[in-house]
Parts: sequence; structure tokens; C-alpha cells
Amino acid sequence: MTQNILISMFFNLPLLRQTKIMYQTLTVYHSLLRWLVLLSLILSLITACSGLWKRRSFSKTDNAIRHWTATIAHIQLIAGILLYAQSPVTRFFREHNAEARQQFDITFFSVIHAILMLVAIVLITMGSALSKRRHTDRHKFRTMALWYALALLIIFIAIPWPFSPFAARPYIR
Ligand code: HEM
Repeated sequence: MTQNILISMFFNLPLLRQTKIMYQTLTVYHSLLRWLVLLSLILSLITACSGLWKRRSFSKTDNAIRHWTATIAHIQLIAGILLYAQSPVTRFFREHNAEARQQFDITFFSVIHAILMLVAIVLITMGSALSKRRHTDRHKFRTMALWYALALLIIFIAIPWPFSPFAARPYIR
């Protein structure tokens, strides 16, 4: 109970107007970008699986899909790092660690979400780089499918969906 009061007092601190606007803007972008990350990964997986299934050659379009999926994930990574630096949630975690650790929502965003998403983006980066370097079309599709599928699974688990048991946030801000 006391912890909840402490936390709500902390969130209501008179933050600079600019800081608040930046935080709100970043949250909106970070939330919206999640849909682009998911759509690009799903499109990549459909492309890679259909390429494997139909035994077709790895076209320029396939290559662009591989490339843009990694780029979108990197843009989301930058947005996430900026949000981490601005968020009152992670700030509370840094400044009141003992109390924050008892609130799962706060630990989720400050540790679990950030680490899992970093791992997923490393997997996307590696999958994209390895697929680019493979010599046969079949190997290119297979590498893309495997690494991107693993990343998608981790991202899906780490997103704070409204139905998530870890932390719930709306579908759209
Ligand atoms: C594919 C990568 C990522 C996806 C899809 C993603 C998605 C999301 C979503 C949907 C939210 C909820 C936004 C809202 O409140 O409506 C969120 C919050 C957050 N994300 Fe990410 N995220 C990703 C990567 C990252 C990374 C790499 C970091 C930090 C290094 C990060 C830090 C945060 C923080 C701190 C919040 C909570 C902000 C707050 O409520 O104050 N995210 N993320």
C-alpha cells in the first residue's frame, strides 16, 4: 500500500513540460512501431517459407524484405533506448530499486522487456546478415525463416499486450 502511494507520488512529480511531451510522444511512436515490427517479421516469414516451399530463387524483393525488416527493428531499438532514458517507470527502478523490485510491472519494463527485446533484435540482425552471406537461395530463405521466427516468438512474449500476464498496455496509444 505504502509502496503504491510512493510510486504514484513519484509519477506525479512536476516533470519539465518538454520532458513529459517527449515521453508521451516516444510512447506513442514506440507503441505504433510495434505493429510495423510485427508486420515486417510476418511478411518476411511468409516470403521465406513460400520461397522454400516453391523452391524459387531469392529475388530483389525478397532481399528488400529481409533488409527492411532488420531496419524497422533497429528503428524500434533506438526508440526503445530513448524511451528507457525518459520513462518515469525505468527512472523509478533506477532510483528506488528495492521498492521497484516488488512491483512486477516496473521490473518487467526496466529489465525483462528491455533484455528480451534486445536479444530479439540481435537475432534479427544476425539472421539478416547470415542470410545475406549464404551462397544458395535455399540457404538464404532457411536462415531468414529460422532466425526471424525465433525473434518473432520472443517479441510476441515480451510485448505488453492488454492480455499479457506480465504487464498490460493498450493496442494503440
Ligand atoms: C521489437 C522491439 C520492441 C517492441 C515491439 C516493443 C514494444 C513495446 C510496447 C508495445 C510498449 C508499450 C507502449 C505503451 O505504453 O503503450 C513498450 C514499452 C516500453 N518499451 Fe519497448 N519494445 C521494443 C523494444 C524495446 C527496447 C529495446 C527497449 C529498451 C532498451 C524498450 C523499452 C521500453 C520501455 C522502457 C517501455 C515502457 C515505457 C513506459 O511505460 O514508461 N523497448 N514497448
